[in-house]
Amino acid sequence: MDWTIKKSSKGLEGELIVPPDKSISHRAVMFGSIARGKLRARNFLFGEDCMRTLEAFKAMGVGIRAEGSSVIIEGKGLKGLASPGSDLYLGNSGTTMRVISGILAGQDFPVRLTGDESLSSRPMKRIVDPLLDMGANITSSGGVPPLEINPHRGALKAISYTTPVASAQVKSCILAAGLYAEGTTKVTEPYQSRDHTERILEYFSASVKRDNLTTSIDGLKELTARDVEVPGDISSASYFIVAALLVKGSDILLKNVGINSTRKGIINVLGRMGADIELSEVRGDFEPMADIRVKTSGLKGTVVEKEEIPLLIDEVPVLIIASLKAEGQTRIEGVEELKVKESDRVKSMTDNLKKAGIHIMEEEDGAIIIPGGLEEVPACSFESFGDHRIAMSMAVGALFSSSECSIRDTECASTSYPDFLKDLEALSSKKC
Ligand code: S3P
Repeated sequence: MDWTIKKSSKGLEGELIVPPDKSISHRAVMFGSIARGKLRARNFLFGEDCMRTLEAFKAMGVGIRAEGSSVIIEGKGLKGLASPGSDLYLGNSGTTMRVISGILAGQDFPVRLTGDESLSSRPMKRIVDPLLDMGANITSSGGVPPLEINPHRGALKAISYTTPVASAQVKSCILAAGLYAEGTTKVTEPYQSRDHTERILEYFSASVKRDNLTTSIDGLKELTARDVEVPGDISSASYFIVAALLVKGSDILLKNVGINSTRKGIINVLGRMGADIELSEVRGDFEPMADIRVKTSGLKGTVVEKEEIPLLIDEVPVLIIASLKAEGQTRIEGVEELKVKESDRVKSMTDNLKKAGIHIMEEEDGAIIIPGGLEEVPACSFESFGDHRIAMSMAVGALFSSSECSIRDTECASTSYPDFLKDLEALSSKKC
């Protein structure tokens, strides 16, 4: 399926409820399944990635059912999962494969994890190494999926581990395995990454301690299930935030968006670029949320530092689009991790923009330079590279085309945002 996006002639207007947060939906199922007791996860994301997680735990004997926009999960306790009887196919979902491996390392049955072509090329050594240190019986084929996890006798070993990259998936995998380890497992990361795992584990009464960049968890203690409310996904909101900032005459309100401080780097960076973004109705403590009002603003180029990257890792492609329209150039440092996402996101964006005659420079120290000051995108056909975030970012860029642009192979949007085009059409006064 291709999208045709026409030049936007009028501003974006109206209210929108963006889809539920993908990261929190995954964790509600994963940790809800191994907690004791029943819970309702309200406002669950029924996108493809989270459905892979849900199906995987169903296949391991967990009672999970949808009820309207909620899922009801009958938690089985730490050791209550059963053998799925066949491979667990996890589609495109890196989060599922990496985090679930920590849980499966502590189970008493063998399991093999597979994925689609993109997932099959994503680095897994980053989780295999610490799990091996913990005594887990896990192998990967050359550092990529499939992963084979075999039962381990007795408890895993608690470790103190420093992750080479700031990755919430790696941190979460180790913390999940820490639930099955004797003693206290510690993870230290180079920069703060999203903390949804720490939050949900604390909320389910795990003994979690945080000290700056180190998180510790005590093992062999059951989790207690509690109902969860999933906020709207700030990553999904970011496409509309950027579109509204850039398209003249826009004024939109995005309702119930998650504003966890480890996720809202995009709001901070756009704010210092001059964006008019206002947060109201701030509420919630398990995972805070707010309504976000965005009005068209003139932006100025900025420098995004390395330690800010984990706080906006999935928003870099759309931040590139915003930077193209800013006055002056933008430098985004430390983009290495973007190269091992659902696609090589630096290359995907660079290749697409090159077609439109726009050149992004890559520097040796892992920074990219976006020229800024771009008026119009010439009509052309962009590729999604099978990556939802590229498809949606390029759709925002296409709003500034001289007439219209197409985005090819956009089925991937259903990974996180099945109704993206419909929502873009609803907010744009001119139909796409
Ligand atoms: C995620 C963490 C991020 C992010 C991904 C979801 C998560 O990956 O890119 O889309 O839910 O933990 P890394 O932590 O590996 O950077």
